[in-house]
Amino acid sequence: MLTHSTTALAHPNIAFIKYWGNRDDRLRLPSNGSISMNLGGLFTRTRVTWAELRVTSNESQEQDSLVINNKPITGVGLSRVSTFLDEVRRMAGIKSRAEVVSENNFPSSAGIASSASAFAALALAACTAAGLELSQAELSRLARRGSGSACRSIPGGFVEWQAGTGDADSFAFSIAPPEHWPLADCIALVSAEHKPTGSTEGHALAATSPLQTARVADAPRRLDLCRRAILNRDFEALAEIAELDSNLMHAVMMTSNPPLFYWQPATLTIMQAVREWRASGLPVCYTIDAGPNVHVITEAAEAERVADLLANMPGVQKVLPAQVGGPVRCDSLHPPSRPLAKKGYNQR
Ligand code: PMV
Repeated sequence: MLTHSTTALAHPNIAFIKYWGNRDDRLRLPSNGSISMNLGGLFTRTRVTWAELRVTSNESQEQDSLVINNKPITGVGLSRVSTFLDEVRRMAGIKSRAEVVSENNFPSSAGIASSASAFAALALAACTAAGLELSQAELSRLARRGSGSACRSIPGGFVEWQAGTGDADSFAFSIAPPEHWPLADCIALVSAEHKPTGSTEGHALAATSPLQTARVADAPRRLDLCRRAILNRDFEALAEIAELDSNLMHAVMMTSNPPLFYWQPATLTIMQAVREWRASGLPVCYTIDAGPNVHVITEAAEAERVADLLANMPGVQKVLPAQVGGPVRCDSLHPPSRPLAKKGYNQR
């Protein structure tokens, strides 16, 4: 039986080997593969309700609606979601409009990229509510179309996104489950003075940096080192490769045209402190996405101590702790239902 309304929950993820730059911007086919860890404890919960198909003379009046954290979203934000839903409509063979209601349990002011968890949850909720049953790889490919890193929030634990040769084989899979290695991410939130350039625009600039070619050419070696560090639970090896990879991505960002500077003074102060703490024996390393916040990776047993150290650093507003998270899933507290639809698709 087709279900009209489904709620799904997905975690954001933090990449140890970063995705920056596309071979194909529309399909979001990446220039290089990437490896990440899902962030348990932080999530996006999204409910998708497909409305009944109404026959109108002007189909363009039938717009999707989007509410994020109780705020109605229109314009660019809505059209990005609608373009994504067009793909789901095409796959399911439906023309219905959708109502999308989404919330993040982490502060949006925190500048944590929510597009990964958002498009992963949207993909599962929209497909399930439309009666589509996709494999994990198919769901990952679909989530990739909304936001590249979202494909990595579909599987659980430690995840690799293979760049692939095209749309069919560019998806993410789990390389180890969450319980394989109890790591933690203490996210040091640093005040954001400038509105950062979004990653969609950023990816398009990557190729303008003369360093991007070298960064991409060396990616298979870094992926290999990172994969092995995770499989062997070798923190020192993970720390070395994750910091190098983050530095390489930011070197590309800073040397693109126009240049993108995401760090703030406090970002660099924390990076240096983390390296000192590691030199004195604490298992910690940093990695930074397209913003000033510093993700400080550590072993779960040290997370409280690391969070305390970070909270006392100048410029740190707050520390958000996260553990290794599981895969995207339908939310059992908000089971699939049909509250708004009076008829199933099969009855129209
Ligand atoms: O998925 P996007 O388009 O928001 O890109 C994510 C880019 C980084 O967060 C900077 C790196 C990554 O691999 O997550």
